Amino acid sequence: MSLIPKETVDQILAQADITEVVGDFVSLKKKGQNLWACCPFHHEKSPSFSVSPAKGIYKCFGCGKAGNSVQFIMDVEGTSFPEALKYLAKKYGIEVPEDQPSPEYAREQSERDSLYIVSEFANKHFQHVLHHHEQGSIGQSYLKERGLTNATIKKFELGYSVDAWSDLTDAALKAGYKQQYLEATGLTIVREDGKKYDRFRGRVMFPIHNISGRVIGFGARTLKSNDKKSPKYLNSPESEIYHKSNVLYGMYQARQAVRMQDMCYMVEGYLDVLSLHQGGIENVVSSSGTSLTEGQIKLIARYTQNITVLYDGDAAGIKASLRGIDLILENGLNVNVVTFPAGEDPDSYIRKVGDEAFKAYVQEHAQDFISFKTSLYAEEAKGNPVKKAEAIREIVTSISKIPDPIKRTVFFQSCSLIFGIDEQLLISEYNKMHLQDRQQQQQLRSGSLADFAEAEYYEQEEAETAKPVTETDSLKRYEREIVRMLLNYPDRILVDGQNTCQYMLEQLEDVEFRTPLYARLVEVVKSKLNQGAIPSADDFINYPDQEIRTEATNLLSDPYELSHNWETHQIYVPHESDLLPYGAERAVLRLKWRNAQLLMKAEMEKLRLVTDPTEQDRVLHVIRSLKTFETQIGELLGIVVNK
Ligand code: UTP
Ligand code: MN
Repeated sequence: MSLIPKETVDQILAQADITEVVGDFVSLKKKGQNLWACCPFHHEKSPSFSVSPAKGIYKCFGCGKAGNSVQFIMDVEGTSFPEALKYLAKKYGIEVPEDQPSPEYAREQSERDSLYIVSEFANKHFQHVLHHHEQGSIGQSYLKERGLTNATIKKFELGYSVDAWSDLTDAALKAGYKQQYLEATGLTIVREDGKKYDRFRGRVMFPIHNISGRVIGFGARTLKSNDKKSPKYLNSPESEIYHKSNVLYGMYQARQAVRMQDMCYMVEGYLDVLSLHQGGIENVVSSSGTSLTEGQIKLIARYTQNITVLYDGDAAGIKASLRGIDLILENGLNVNVVTFPAGEDPDSYIRKVGDEAFKAYVQEHAQDFISFKTSLYAEEAKGNPVKKAEAIREIVTSISKIPDPIKRTVFFQSCSLIFGIDEQLLISEYNKMHLQDRQQQQQLRSGSLADFAEAEYYEQEEAETAKPVTETDSLKRYEREIVRMLLNYPDRILVDGQNTCQYMLEQLEDVEFRTPLYARLVEVVKSKLNQGAIPSADDFINYPDQEIRTEATNLLSDPYELSHNWETHQIYVPHESDLLPYGAERAVLRLKWRNAQLLMKAEMEKLRLVTDPTEQDRVLHVIRSLKTFETQIGELLGIVVNK
C-alpha cells in the first residue's frame, strides 16, 4: 500500500489538469479539439504528441506513450506512482500527510526515486550549512561579494559544503539514507580501504535541477582563488538521474520566461545564469562549460525555436564552440550571437554596466549566427585566397545544416555580400556537397495519395518498427487495427445493414485472436453484442481492468487528426470514417491473410515431425488449401505473392 491516503489521491487526480501538467514540459499548440506538441519521449520534428483536455489524457501517435496526468509524470521522470502523485500534490499545493516510510513504501520506490530523494537531502543539507552552520558565513560572504542577493540565493537554492572529510556523508547515513545511493549520486566517494568521504568540501554548491524541479546533481565552486591542485568547479558525475548531455543549468527556473519571450539565452557558466536572472533576464541557461549537445538543443526546442548565444570575449573560445552552433542550426532553430568586450563574460559585464545598459547592449549587438561566422572568417581570410576557399567551405557547411530552403537562400545572399563573392559560387559549392544526399532522398519519394488509408497505415507501421517486423509483430498490429475500428465506429452501418461490430466479427468468425489483450477486448465487444447492446467508448475507458483501459484509451484517440497539415495545404484528404467500409474490409482481409500464413507455418512444423505417410498426406493437404486461401486473399489485397 502506498502511504498516501485515498482521499488525497482522489483530490490530486481531480485537481491535476492535463494541459497544465504537460504544459510544464512542452509547448502545446491548439489544433481542433486537442493540443499538440513535439513528443517529449522520442525525437521528432513535427508534432505527433496530443493532449485531450476533455478526456484528461495525452497520447503520442509516434511512440505510443499514453495516459493521464500521473502517468505523464511517471513517464517523464521515470518515477513510481506515489512519487508522481507527490509531484502533482506539490504543484497544486495539496498537502500529503507524511508518515514514517513503511517497508512496503520503500519497496515501491524505484532506484531513481532513491537517487532523487538522497540528492534532495543533500540539497537541503548544503542550504542549511550556508545559512546556519558556522562555516556558512564563508560561503555567504563570497556570494555577496559576487553581487548575489538573498532572493537569488534562495531561488536557486545555493548552498555551502563544510570543509571537512565527511560532513554530508555522516549526516545522511545518520538520517537513514543508504550508502549505495550516496555513492550512486557521487556525493560520497568510497576509497579502496573502505574509508568514505564527501566529494564536495568547502565549496559553494549550485544544485542542478531537471525541468520538473528535482535536484539531479551539483556544481561546486572552490573559494580558493589560487589553488592549483583542485579545479575551480567540481561537478557531480553522471548517474541514473543525471545525464549531462540532456541537462542545462537554469532551465527549471528559466522555462516559463523562455516560453513567454520565445527566446532562450545561452551562457557558459553558473554565475552568468545567476547574474542575468537577477538582472531581470530570466530566460537564460548554461551548458556549464561543455560544448552543446543535441539533447540540450532538443530541451530548448520544447520551449522556443530561438536561441541567442552570449559569448565571453576571446576569439579562440568562440571558434571552439562554433561546431555546437551548427548543431543548433541542424535542428532547425534560429541562432543569434552576441559577443562581449575582451576579458568580459556576461556576469562581469552586467555587473559592470548595470541591468538596463546590459539589455540594450544585447539588443544592439545580436547578430544572426551565419553573418557572425562569415564576418569572423572573412576578417581572417582577407588577402589570402587559400584561407578564403577554406572559409567559404566552412560557412557553406553551416548554411547547409539549415533545414528550411527559404532561410538557406537568404543566408546565401547575405554571405555573398559579406565576402564580396558571387552567390552562385556558394550555391554550387553547396550543390557539390549535397548532391549525393538529395539523390538518395528522391529515390525514397514515390507513390501517390490514391490509396490514402493504406499508405497511412503502412507508414505508421514503418515508423513504429525500427527493428525488423516479425510475423507475430505484424499479426498483433493487424489485430489491433480490427479492435481499433470496433471501438471507434461500433455502430456505423457498413454493408447490408450490418454495423462495424456485426460485420467484422462475422467475417472473422473462424479467426482466433492470438494476442491475449486483443482477444479479451474482442470478448468484451462480443458479450455486449450478445446482450443486444452496442459497446460504447465508456464501456472501455471505465473497464475495471487497467490493461484494457489503457489500450482502449490508446485506440480511442484519433490519429487521423494528424492530417491537419494536409488541410492547411488545401489538399482534400478523406477522413478515415469516409472510407470506413473499404478500410474495414481491408483490415479484415489483412488479418485473415496473416492468420493463414501463421497456420501454414504451424502445419509445416508438424510436417517435419510426422512420420506416418497417411498423416503426412493429410497435413500436406491442409497446407495446400491454406496456400490457396492465402493467395486468393493476397490477390484481393493487391499483394503480389511469390510463387
Ligand atoms: P568559467 O571558468 O568561465 O567560470 O567556466 P565562471 O562561470 O565564469 O565562474 P566564475 O565567474 O569564475 O565563478 C565556465 C563554466 O565551465 C564549467 C562551469 O560550469 C563554469 O560555470 N567549469 C569551469 C567546470 O565545470 N570546471 C572548471 O574547472 C571550470
Ligand atoms: Mn565568470
